[in-house]
Amino acid sequence: MRTTKTYLIFLRFFFCFFLASVAAPVQADVEEDTRPRNVRVVWLRNPSTTATLIWDTVKPTTDNSVRIQQHGAEEARTHKARWNESYSYADKENVDLNYHRVLIDGLLPSTRYDVEFESDGQKSRRLYFVTAPDDNRSMTFLFGGDSRSDQRARRSVNEMMAELVTEAQATEDPADDIVGLIHAGDYVATGTSLKQWSRWLGDHELTTAEDGRLLPIIPARGNHDRGRLFNEAFGFKIKDQHNWYGVSFGTFLRVSVLNTEASVAGRQAKWLDQELATNRATHRWLVAQYHRPAYAATKWPSSALIHWVPLFEKHNVDLVCEGDGHTIKRTVPIRNGKQDPTGIVYVGEGGLGVPPRQPKPKRWYLQSPGMCGSGHHVQRLKFEEDTLTYEVVLLGGKIGDRWEKKK
Ligand SMILES: [Fe+2]
Repeated sequence: MRTTKTYLIFLRFFFCFFLASVAAPVQADVEEDTRPRNVRVVWLRNPSTTATLIWDTVKPTTDNSVRIQQHGAEEARTHKARWNESYSYADKENVDLNYHRVLIDGLLPSTRYDVEFESDGQKSRRLYFVTAPDDNRSMTFLFGGDSRSDQRARRSVNEMMAELVTEAQATEDPADDIVGLIHAGDYVATGTSLKQWSRWLGDHELTTAEDGRLLPIIPARGNHDRGRLFNEAFGFKIKDQHNWYGVSFGTFLRVSVLNTEASVAGRQAKWLDQELATNRATHRWLVAQYHRPAYAATKWPSSALIHWVPLFEKHNVDLVCEGDGHTIKRTVPIRNGKQDPTGIVYVGEGGLGVPPRQPKPKRWYLQSPGMCGSGHHVQRLKFEEDTLTYEVVLLGGKIGDRWEKKK
């Protein structure tokens, strides 16, 4: 009996000690509420000379800045954040999160910049990003979409992306260097949930390479990304409902980003026609990306099929990147609604952290030499003078598909 009593006292003591030790990190978190977190680089224009740098703090802060230094140079500049706001819908879920944004221009192309983020005296670790090339050098991108509803897979794919960036830096071919991530949307399941965005933004930090290299993002809006948080997360104007834009990598590559969640006809289609006409004349490679697919592997086609596909064909876009389906697909080259060696290839459809779906392999445009499949993955696009190499990198590193387009 006495032994049981002693045992219970010991158990109670142990339990109290356990609770105290669990509570300790909460206290540490309170102290770190102004610590810069969720750091990201976004490219919405001129990525060889310009970058939007954004970070978050849990508590509102008054003194927010980025210290930026060209790698190896003595001189450093400090940019004060001009935009410091609480995220929208914070009250809805009783979440505290604030964003801080700096738009930096006047940067040098293909240059490493070391950056340190500071909010009310708390600093981030030293990170860096590399501006985009502005000459005709070869380069590689990651492309993917749909990272909204399997956080475990999302974190694993993000870690894999960081490894791919690190590995690419170590190869002898500078064309392997991964310049950025093209993301076709559906970051979260509920676009107005700050809790979900907060988790996504935290997980995005896992794409940072081991040596601190940040992976810049070129974002598109998905059907789940309704509301203002998409604009706030990526540095668009708060009430921007267009979210369509183009980004040039010198005269080598143009990435045209479209928004299937706005009207795809009218102003956007008119913009796309001009965008492709202008840039076809000046760029070696043209890529379009958006969320809901025209040549879908499992769902019904979006209205992009009617309003954008004729423009892709008219201006001979080199590759179209689509999301939304949670499949792996590469169509045959398509022109005028049928297979044509001069046609456009559509790839997708998002697997950066969502439950994969099964494609419909009997659809004519998925037949060989096209392909379809299923699984968590990211796609790697290598642009060289005469060759575009497309690969599907499955979670775990296996190559799930490979295709080349020659100029
Ligand atoms: Fe979607």
